[in-house]
Parts: sequence; structure tokens; C-alpha cells
Amino acid sequence: MRKQIAAANWKMNLSLQQAEELIKALLETNHELNTQHLAVFAVPFPYIIPVKQLLNGRQNVFVAAQNCSANKNGAYTGETSAEMLQSLALKYVVLGHSERREYNHETNEELAKKVDIAMAHQLHPIFCCGEPLQIREAGTQNSYVEQQLKESLFHLSAEQLTGFIIAYEPIWAIGTGKTASSEQAQEMHAHIRNVFEKQYGKAVADSISILYGGSVKAANAVEIFGQPDVDGGLVGGASLVATEFSAIINSLKK
Ligand code: PGA
Repeated sequence: MRKQIAAANWKMNLSLQQAEELIKALLETNHELNTQHLAVFAVPFPYIIPVKQLLNGRQNVFVAAQNCSANKNGAYTGETSAEMLQSLALKYVVLGHSERREYNHETNEELAKKVDIAMAHQLHPIFCCGEPLQIREAGTQNSYVEQQLKESLFHLSAEQLTGFIIAYEPIWAIGTGKTASSEQAQEMHAHIRNVFEKQYGKAVADSISILYGGSVKAANAVEIFGQPDVDGGLVGGASLVATEFSAIINSLKK
């Protein structure tokens, strides 16, 4: 079975003290992770080291960055490079979140560069894609998402895409309380897998973990994660509450 992943996206929330309390509370909850399961915490940059220290020694639990620069190093004030993240022994980085695409004008082309530089530094991207409301209403979401994937990922080799992590996040469902129905999620996830199958073959497509994101919470996680092509979730709001996120981890397919 491909990896089933519960990824927390804290976005720009929590003080350091609150962050530490959240992790400690989570470690005390009763979550079950087997070797095919991963829990990942995408935390703000200043919390990478302290959260990593708190998680030290835990099996199958990792810290992620929420972004990295497309540039190697140099005069880019306020940016963080993949090389810096590698030097912290980080293994995961979220790339192409819709909030960064919108507010920081990240394009598919720039994201292709970020994917490359991240992977060159042994970071596994959690690559986000997903359509805005007007595209969903126009019914063109499949070709929209396909283009995001092709323009940012299709230069990669089959080997690089084996075990890759995608997060499908319909923008209209992020932070809105509106979740895609489990049928809508399954339909898009199957489409995404098919896009990879056509280009790279079934073995590669089957190895890719496709997470769903957009108002996932304890109350809907079992149903969404239960869909055959949904391999877990990227969770914003509900990841800030220990009991919620713990229940979400326990909702991963066994
Ligand atoms: P949400 O955010 O769970 O608060 O909708 C998901 C995300 O943006 O990753």
C-alpha cells in the first residue's frame, strides 16, 4: 500500500508556546501510526527546530516547511533556501499551496523550479494543486488541475515521481467549512492518478500518495480518507486542535 499521510498545515498561526503545547498535547493523545502511515507537521519556519526536538525519536512523525525559495542562495531577503532546510535535516516541504499561489503569485513554472531545488536537497515536496470556485462552476476543474501537474511536475523522471506526494485542495473548500463531497474528492483523485498513469505508467501512478485538503476535520475524515484514491489529508484549521488532529490521524486507511 502507498503511504497514508495526515499532514498538518499550521499556516501562520500559534505562538511558540502554543505550538509546543499543541505538540505535547498531541503526543499524549492516543494516535496509532503503523509503518505505512505518516504524520507530518508543516510549521512556520521559526518552529521547525523546536518542534523537531519535541518529536525526536517518534516513529513516522516528521516536520515540514511550508515553502522554500526557488533560488539556491544569495540576496533574497526574507527567503529560506532548500539548502538551509536540508541543513536542519528536514525531509518534507509543502510547495504550491493555493495561498502562496494567490498572495505570492507563485506560478506553475516557478513551482517546477522549487520542486527541483527541493528534491536536489533531499526534500520530499508535498505538492499542492486545486481549482478556484469559478473553474469548478464552469466544470473545467479536471483540465485545470491537469495543467498544474503537467507544468510543474512532468519534467520529473518516473523514479523521482515514485512515492511522490500530491495534495489536492479545491480552493473553494479551504478554510470555508465547505468540504468537497467524498465523491467529488474521489473523482478528482482518480483523475490525478490517471494523469500520472498516462504519462508514467500504472506502477508510478499507484505509488503516489494523493492527499485531500479543504475543511477536513475529525467528523468527515473517515469518509473522505476511505475513498480508494484518497491517501490522507492536508489539514489546516483542524490541525490546530490536538484532539481533532489525533482523530484525523486515526482516520487514515489501515
Ligand atoms: P483547512 O485548510 O483545513 O483549514 O480548510 C487546508 C489547507 O489549506 O491546507
